Order: sequence, then C-alpha cells, then structure tokens
Amino acid sequence: MNHIENLIEWIDYVLKTYHQPLKEDLPKIQLLLNKIISVHGEHHPEFEKINIIFGKFKNDMIKHLHKEENVLFPMLQEIQKCIDTDTKLWWFHCGSIQNPISQMEHEHDIFDTYFEEMSLLSNKYALPSDACNAYTTTYKMLEKLEKDTKEHATFENDVLFKVALEKEEKLKNIP
Ligand SMILES: [Fe+2]
Ligand SMILES: [Fe+2]
Repeated sequence: MNHIENLIEWIDYVLKTYHQPLKEDLPKIQLLLNKIISVHGEHHPEFEKINIIFGKFKNDMIKHLHKEENVLFPMLQEIQKCIDTDTKLWWFHCGSIQNPISQMEHEHDIFDTYFEEMSLLSNKYALPSDACNAYTTTYKMLEKLEKDTKEHATFENDVLFKVALEKEEKLKNIP
C-alpha cells in the first residue's frame, strides 16, 4: 500500500484487500461450521455456541460492509473529488462524516467482542490431536478471520477515517 493520501485509492484498496475476501470467506466458514456440528456436535457442544456467535458476527458484518459501501464510502469519495477540484462540499449544512464514522468505529469494537467470545469457547482455536480436516480448517479460518478483521478495522479507524476527517475539515475553509 503506498501512502499517497488519496481516499478513492484507499477505498479501492479496502474493498479489494478486506471486503471482497470477507464476502468469500464468510459463507465458506458457515458451511464448515455446519459440517463439524453435524459430525462432532454431540461431543463438542462448544461448536454450537461458536456457531451462534459466528452467525451474529456474519449478519452484523454483512450489514456493516453494506453501510460502508453504500453510505460512508461514497461520502469519502465525494470529499476526495472536492479536494481535487477545490470545490465546497454540499452537505456541510446538514452535518459531518463524524457521525457515520463514529457508528462504524463502534461496530468495529463490537466485532472484537465476538472474537473474544469465540476465542474463549475454542480455547484460542486449540486443536485436539485427533481433529479432522474440517475441524482444523474451520479453526484456521476463524483465526484468520479474526486477524483480518482486526487489520481491516485498524486500517479504517487509523488511516482511512482519520485522513477523511482531516480532508473534510480542510474543505470547510473553501469559501
Ligand atoms: Fe470495511
Ligand atoms: Fe469497517
């Protein structure tokens, strides 16, 4: 990732690096969880609990991506276009991007709590020596999902949103 502060390029980066892979991984993990529950559920009641939390995470994440892609990101793209053309933002009279950004940051924090619960239930995704392939793959994918989600949220909170707010502030000086 280069560090030219261009919101349009950074949004493309987020979509390609985080959103698209997530949309592919979530249904794969769901199928794997269904499979291990049907095979091992009887002896591993924790799978059912993990599945419930994963289901909540999946639904919340799908809605979160939808809000970013359809509400917040178009506003950030607009900010970049106004910066590039030295134009005033049309929505200044009705607020700031601070509100949708605070909402997204709050949702990022909720994702962390889901992972704390799943990590606890799976004993940090520890595998027994006789774990089957589906079991192993599911835990590996959940662990990767946690890492990717944290990276994704950190990039949005600390880079994308931060720079967008700075740029929005700059646009306020345009007469
Ligand atoms: Fe995102
Ligand atoms: Fe996000």
